[in-house]
Amino acid sequence: MEKINLFFWSFCFLQWFAGAYDPLDPKGNITIKWDFFDIHDGDGYVVTVTMYNNQLYRHIESPGWALGWTWPSEDEIILHMSGAEATKQGDCKRFKSNPLPHSCERSPVIVDLHPGVPYNLQTANCCKGGVISSLTQDPSKAISSFQMAVQSSVNFTATSGAFGSPSNFSIGVPGYTCSNNMALVEPTKFSTGNSQRIQQALMTWQVVCSYSQFRESNAPSCCVSLSSFYSDAIVNCPRCSCRCPHTGLAGNCYIDDEPDNKLQTPNGEGDDKIAVKCTEHMCPIQVHWHVKVNYKDYWRVKVTITNLNFFKNYSDWNLVLEHPNLQNITQIFSFSYQPLIVYPGTNDTGLFWGIPFYNTMLLEHGESGNVQTEMILHKDHRDFTFKGGWAFPRRVLFNGHECVMPSPETYPSLPKAAVAAAAAAAVPVASSIAHFLITVLLFL
Ligand SMILES: *[C@@H]1O[C@H](CO)[C@@H](O)[C@H](O)[C@H]1NC(C)=O
Ligand SMILES: *[C@@H]1O[C@H](CO)[C@@H](O)[C@H](O)[C@H]1NC(C)=O
Ligand SMILES: *[C@@H]1O[C@H](CO)[C@@H](O)[C@H](O)[C@H]1NC(C)=O
Ligand SMILES: *[C@@H]1O[C@H](CO)[C@@H](O)[C@H](O)[C@H]1NC(C)=O
Ligand SMILES: *[C@@H]1O[C@H](CO)[C@@H](O)[C@H](O)[C@H]1NC(C)=O
Ligand SMILES: *[C@@H]1O[C@H](CO)[C@@H](O)[C@H](O)[C@H]1NC(C)=O
Repeated sequence: MEKINLFFWSFCFLQWFAGAYDPLDPKGNITIKWDFFDIHDGDGYVVTVTMYNNQLYRHIESPGWALGWTWPSEDEIILHMSGAEATKQGDCKRFKSNPLPHSCERSPVIVDLHPGVPYNLQTANCCKGGVISSLTQDPSKAISSFQMAVQSSVNFTATSGAFGSPSNFSIGVPGYTCSNNMALVEPTKFSTGNSQRIQQALMTWQVVCSYSQFRESNAPSCCVSLSSFYSDAIVNCPRCSCRCPHTGLAGNCYIDDEPDNKLQTPNGEGDDKIAVKCTEHMCPIQVHWHVKVNYKDYWRVKVTITNLNFFKNYSDWNLVLEHPNLQNITQIFSFSYQPLIVYPGTNDTGLFWGIPFYNTMLLEHGESGNVQTEMILHKDHRDFTFKGGWAFPRRVLFNGHECVMPSPETYPSLPKAAVAAAAAAAVPVASSIAHFLITVLLFL
């Protein structure tokens, strides 16, 4: 058993380094479509640009996307834009129009507007500060759109629509790369309002972007610590999980009681501190998995996510946990939960996130800088065991970033004598669900 588990963990570890392909979301990508609604050959066009987040659990968090591309020639300029804006107007002096074009950059970068911009600057699915939800958390918010009028001398009739498209796309979020050229695809179809009518774009271009942790960075941003009712030992995050704490006076992190640390802003002049609490692991996020109670037919786990950033709140955070017993989850408190089923027959991974108006925001470090859940899992007696670290998670990801796990040989061990004792001491719970729920309430 132990050997098998060790093997399993080394396998997970290898996957972490391999990176380029995500076994938890093999089909995940961000698809960007340009839907044409008005084409004037040789003159320009009006296009709606939509980013679809087709990822099960990765989302785009604040500060949001920044979509960039390179126009095929000097001819293209953005005359007008709504729902987003180009970061630079660029040099427009060769265009005599009034008002001046929105952007004359050869490689413009577009950012989303913030919620609450005037109505005349909005479009459908715009203005969310560049934040895009994952498909699982909120499919209705997994889309971001803007509209623009482009001046261009391309004659789409002559080129069959296949040429004159921009290239060199990027979304401004670390870890994502986009296919080099846009492809001409089936025109997007839209149903309008609540009528039966389906409309379609005149022409649609598409580019697909995908994520790789390997490309993002080798530096993790999250780590896992473990504990259990059957052992006094708390297994901390491995030292230097994210970076190493500096020794000496000029630390690169913040100590809780440091005077004025709430008033300082990070990255000020000559300040190379990263704004996290000083710890041995130096991670901004710590996930703690505590095996809390052992009932006869159930067991109970408490998971706490702690924010160790001094100046960062995480809105709409999410957590991926992988454990073979998740398929038998009976009850979960304080978090939303959805299994992530990627391969039919494998149901060992779940996505957890906050409950609206309660804990969707993970606040900056301090007294309320954590969110926690407890869950009750039905033991499957064929494989349930406290031995060999089985009760601990196989993988943990916070906001799509893999968390560093302690190495399996450090896991809280079950002393030989305690194996029998733990089994015998299992809290006796009547098997009927009614009794079970009463017991659960007592533990709250
Ligand atoms: C992108 O994601 C969509 C939806 O999951 C999928 O249909 C499509 O094949 C993916 N495209 C690529 C190039 O991976
Ligand atoms: C675009 O190309 C088509 C086919 O070559 C041609 O008939 C048409 O006149 C061109 N339009 C303009 C505005 O150049
Ligand atoms: C690609 O885009 C970047 C900016 O996003 C720009 O600096 C670079 O010149 C572009 N490369 C090409 C080949 O156009
Ligand atoms: C985080 O949220 C709290 C409470 O809403 C707020 O007081 C604080 O300024 C926020 N911090 C940042 C860095 O946005
Ligand atoms: C996966 O497990 C969950 C419980 O965690 C259960 O509700 C769901 O029905 C299972 N789905 C499949 C496809 O087995
Ligand atoms: C756990 O879930 C699996 C798959 O849904 C099921 O076959 C098994 O009977 C469940 N075990 C318990 C104890 O609920």
